[in-house]
Amino acid sequence: MVKISKRIAQVAESPTLATSAKVKELKAQGHDIISLTVGEPDFETPKQIRDAAIEAISQNKVNHYTPAAGILPLRQAIVDYYQKYEGLDYQINQVIVTEGAKNALYSLFQVLLDEGDEVMILAPYWVSYTEQVKLAGGVNVIIEAEMENQFKVTVDELEKHRTDKTVAIVLNSPNNPTGSIYSKEELTAIGNWAVEHDIVIVADEIYAKLCYNGNEAVSIASLSEEIKKQTIIINGVSKTYAMTGWRIGYALGNKEVIGKMIDLANHSTSNPAGPSQYAALAALEGEQDFVEKMRQTYEKRLSHFFPLLESIPGFRVLKPQGAFYVFAHVKEAAEQTGYQSVSDFSLAMIEEAKVAVVSGDGFGFPDYVRISYTQDEETLTEAVNRIKAFIEKKTKE
Ligand SMILES: Cc1ncc(COP(=O)(O)O)c(C=O)c1O
Repeated sequence: MVKISKRIAQVAESPTLATSAKVKELKAQGHDIISLTVGEPDFETPKQIRDAAIEAISQNKVNHYTPAAGILPLRQAIVDYYQKYEGLDYQINQVIVTEGAKNALYSLFQVLLDEGDEVMILAPYWVSYTEQVKLAGGVNVIIEAEMENQFKVTVDELEKHRTDKTVAIVLNSPNNPTGSIYSKEELTAIGNWAVEHDIVIVADEIYAKLCYNGNEAVSIASLSEEIKKQTIIINGVSKTYAMTGWRIGYALGNKEVIGKMIDLANHSTSNPAGPSQYAALAALEGEQDFVEKMRQTYEKRLSHFFPLLESIPGFRVLKPQGAFYVFAHVKEAAEQTGYQSVSDFSLAMIEEAKVAVVSGDGFGFPDYVRISYTQDEETLTEAVNRIKAFIEKKTKE
């Protein structure tokens, strides 16, 4: 038997794993499955971005290690981006480029947390936060945000969970999996509370450019100088420029924290892949039309898809304001079709309705499923038709 460390043994399997294994198995058997599970845009990375990577390779710019924190022009482009869109001023030494936002978060928790330190995680939450906090020796303090409250929490609720071990709070707006966006007023209240109690705000802004229905995502760091000092911004190019495979993210904030993240990178990753850094540079510096075009496409799909989801018996949904997911309460649908749990119901949906969604367990809300709408409208309509037919058939059985 190979010995596995206790530290890694406590990490949960990815909740999408069981689903994707099932989808793969059925697809291999020739079944036509509609997969609404993915957390990435269905667009191609724009050509000018791909070309920038090719050019960097052709010009021999990427044959050697880059600085651990990323190439200087990319760090400068990140500074300029936050100055342009959020009016925020950062110095170069307050920025690190990482292997996706996921690695920025991983490394940030390693830098911030000692054994037993508490991190407030607002549920439903993105699946990796809790596992990364555990890997850093931290303790997750889960605070549930209900659909009735637009999946958002108030300062009063946060205060109830604060202890002298609270080190950080993770804020993800727009949110994966709910699509909820915190308003300026809500963020100001949370920001001031965090400043008062010296709690680090980990602001995951990865979906900031994907907002709908006239909504905007404000960076919490832009709300006051004190809040900015308390905040580490996490972002990346994955979702905004359809670049999930390129693995470029970044963190911005307190220079000591960023400096320690750079030390960690020096001993763990050395640097994010060179060609990807040049591609990300082209993404941030180039034409931004693509971003708006993609945003409009998702907004249109959501307008089409949301009423269809609302019409499914036993599904309760709240219209998302951003990202590209709908988080649906499907407990009634599971019960009326004879399933003990929503996870059994979602597995049966893959097998029988041939539609895959992600069960809510991994997001901290087991009565829900996460449905991605990164598919064309025709496919989304077909998915809903299949789900309805499945529920109707099972209800009669
Ligand atoms: C909320 C959230 N944060 C961070 C990430 C990580 O993105 P990446 O590592 O591709 O930059 C994701 C990806 O799904 C996400 O949904």
